Amino acid sequence: MNLGGTVKINKVGVCIVTISFLLLFIYIFIGHPDDTNSSRLLATPDEENRVNMKALLVAAKEVAEKGGQQVRSARKLADMHIQSKGKTKEGVNDPVTDADFKSHCVMYHGLKKKFPKLKVISEEHDTNECNTPPSLDVVDMEGQTLPDLMVANEDVTIWIDPLDATKEFTENLLQYVTTMVCVAVKGKPIIGVIHFPFAEPQVTYWTWGNVARSESVKKLARTKPNVEAPNITVSMSHTGEVQKLAQVAFGPNVKITKAAGAGYKVMEVVKGNVDIYLHSTAIKKWDVCAGNAVINSVLGVMTDLKGNKLDYSSEAGALNNGGIFAAVSEADLFLDKITNPSLK
Ligand SMILES: *[C@@H]1O[C@H](CO)[C@@H](O)[C@H](O)[C@H]1NC(C)=O
Repeated sequence: MNLGGTVKINKVGVCIVTISFLLLFIYIFIGHPDDTNSSRLLATPDEENRVNMKALLVAAKEVAEKGGQQVRSARKLADMHIQSKGKTKEGVNDPVTDADFKSHCVMYHGLKKKFPKLKVISEEHDTNECNTPPSLDVVDMEGQTLPDLMVANEDVTIWIDPLDATKEFTENLLQYVTTMVCVAVKGKPIIGVIHFPFAEPQVTYWTWGNVARSESVKKLARTKPNVEAPNITVSMSHTGEVQKLAQVAFGPNVKITKAAGAGYKVMEVVKGNVDIYLHSTAIKKWDVCAGNAVINSVLGVMTDLKGNKLDYSSEAGALNNGGIFAAVSEADLFLDKITNPSLK
């Protein structure tokens, strides 16, 4: 090869150069400058309408943790406010009530920026102050090699809860606080991310169906529940009705453990700290979708109180009026007693 000599221009060469310029042109004028995945340039129309589940998992974990950072810094600010009460300027927003919104900003827009075609449903809504979504960088999925798995954009609904257990957050009961992201495909909860911003150290539980699980989930041991007198976690805020329900289903020896936050309560079940999570009043799907994905991934059962699976497609709406049952070990047995109390 004579690298120093004159370059021979032939038809093939001209063709390649022309096509390259054409592609560059297309990329600059039609492409997405902030999309680092340059393979998009050559994507077929079919690929344009699909999304990689691996990319969704990576982004879901990242925005849950970024939301958690916002929640933590809002809490810190609030503590400073409390210490310097009376010395803050009039009109300064309450950092505690701001926490939901700031977390929403980074979570919702972080996802929307990367996946503009996907439906993202958040507990919170934008106000005009929400204008600085951060860029997403690649995060480490604990060194796990994950497969590329494409699904149709139209089948995907992402549910985000920028701050679960808001009331407890304001009361400084921080162990209950989570940020959550759930990716549902055709109404089924497939990817679940539950981040605990105030755990020491902070921890993120994530699962992707039967494909992958975080180390934090993998290391949880299966426990043997007390079938005769199960330990049941219920909401601190409305316990009356659900307590009755538990006693009808499992008898008077049932143990009731009050806690807050749907994300927290589901993880108590997954960790084996309690046997069952029961909820009898209305609950929103961003509260339970991520937990449902995690429960499914560890082969537990999560349904409404009639044993029906929840539909997490956007068309089904955000409200679940049917209550919640969740268990991992002996889940089918427990569910039978709930749906058919005469079995006890
Ligand atoms: C029920 O579970 C909670 C949370 O793990 C625990 O603190 C409590 O001791 C349990 N109750 C009984 C009676 O085992």
